[in-house]
Amino acid sequence: MFGPYPTLSTEEAVTHIQNGDMISFSGFTPAGSAKAVPMALAKRATEEHAKGHPFKVRVLTGASSGYSIDEALAKADAIAWRGPYQADVTLRQQINRQEVEYVDMHLSHLPQAVAEEFLWQIDTAVVEATEITPDGRVYLTTSIGASPTYLKYAKKVIIEINRHQSLRLREMADIVVMPPPPYRYPIHIYDPLTRIGWPYAQVDPEKVIGIVESDEPDRLGAFNPPDDTSLKIAAHVTRFLLDELRAGRIPPRFLPLQSGVGNVANGIMSVLGTHPDVPPFMMYSEVFQNSLVDIMAAGKLLGASATSLTITADKLQQIIDNIDFFGPRIVLRPQEISNHPGIIRRLGVIAINTAIEFDIYGNVNSSHLFGTDIMNGIGGSGDFTRNSYISIFTAPSVVKDGRLSTVVPMCTHVDSNEHSTQIIVTEQGLADLRGLGPVQRATLIIEKCAHPDYKPYLEKYIREARVGHIPHDLGRCFELHQNFLASGTMLPA
Ligand code: COA
Repeated sequence: MFGPYPTLSTEEAVTHIQNGDMISFSGFTPAGSAKAVPMALAKRATEEHAKGHPFKVRVLTGASSGYSIDEALAKADAIAWRGPYQADVTLRQQINRQEVEYVDMHLSHLPQAVAEEFLWQIDTAVVEATEITPDGRVYLTTSIGASPTYLKYAKKVIIEINRHQSLRLREMADIVVMPPPPYRYPIHIYDPLTRIGWPYAQVDPEKVIGIVESDEPDRLGAFNPPDDTSLKIAAHVTRFLLDELRAGRIPPRFLPLQSGVGNVANGIMSVLGTHPDVPPFMMYSEVFQNSLVDIMAAGKLLGASATSLTITADKLQQIIDNIDFFGPRIVLRPQEISNHPGIIRRLGVIAINTAIEFDIYGNVNSSHLFGTDIMNGIGGSGDFTRNSYISIFTAPSVVKDGRLSTVVPMCTHVDSNEHSTQIIVTEQGLADLRGLGPVQRATLIIEKCAHPDYKPYLEKYIREARVGHIPHDLGRCFELHQNFLASGTMLPA
């Protein structure tokens, strides 16, 4: 027994979950993901399928998850429905084969969508924690995500007490659950480190059906050192931000940064964080990732707000070993606060995200290949881009050994549109689109960002397009994509 709560084995815990249930798991990226229960659920699904019984659940998390949720459950063919984001190879294939229904959402919208219970009623929330008190205080681990909302709205709750996670993680947590409209109030965050809540989430103890014990670390893959392309992109971004600083459009104390996930984003932060001319700065971001640990230790990153510590085991250990230093400098918030449009706008966040492709007018595709196949999802990129002080998108100018241009006449899917994107960057250069009309944008994007192999095609496209405010040739706007699908290269010989 844990106080008033019964201890359950993982096998006992999953008997409370039925075919067709909506299950919400803690976790934002692999950080803070429930581990023991979803793994046992995958095992149970496999056993049920072997007996000829249908067994699939509907899965919510904060964002992507990791091996214990998406990988294990997808491999067990146990997911019928998924939201709000995923990044798993097997699950992605199932979604693209229409075997799994996937709702790709702005991550700041998720808690509110859960609270509007007419959309989904959560049957069971499974939440990783370091402690639950008899009166229902739940101390979360390496992510906050949507867990406070899941604890509040789920019909039943299972808590995974993870002995591996440090009790001192709570020193970074700052948790509030927004009431639904019309009872909302102003959110008093005037600085990335402002704290407005409590170090714990709350649950009605009556709903807790039991405690499962685990002892598993978050498993995050190592980051590759930035490659030449990433370093060139980082250099363009850094030069641009320094020019903005010198021009006075960014104030001398700088503005908080948001950075997307992945190797390019990690590389950009390493370069910015070690550049002698960049003043010490703050982050108001979604994930706190590896490169930030070192630049915070070096005094360049003064403070960071995020919803998860998406960092490798060695970096997490560095934080825990030096928690008296890092604790006051990192705030972990629920995702509706870390990604809140009003706060992002108020603080003047500079948003830096990665695109799959851009079109010549500045529309950005972050989520779908060839208009049909999901890669991961929009994630928080829309939350930040739309509301930022300066929005920046980066990508290599070509992928697949040059057979694919990321600068195209028209995006096959749009996540952030021309009204929200301001700066486009590839290793070729940077296009500052602010104040430019469509034709001027197209000319600049082609000149600065397109790969030289694709410039003549794109220039010809503009010349021959039907003239209008936004010139286009509706018969040819997807010709590059169609070429690739037909022949494996966008520009066949
Ligand atoms: N057309 C077809 N394929 C493309 C492509 C394009 N325009 N651009 C990239 N790809 C392929 C790559 O070749 C690679 O394929 P592979 O897995 O076969 O090697 C794959 O897509 C992933 O590309 P990669 O460059 O490794 O991606 P990344 O790790 O830098 O991530 C995104 C890029 C866009 C997929 C990723 O940043 C993302 O999911 N963003 C949306 C969510 C987001 O922005 N979150 C942060 C907000 S806080």
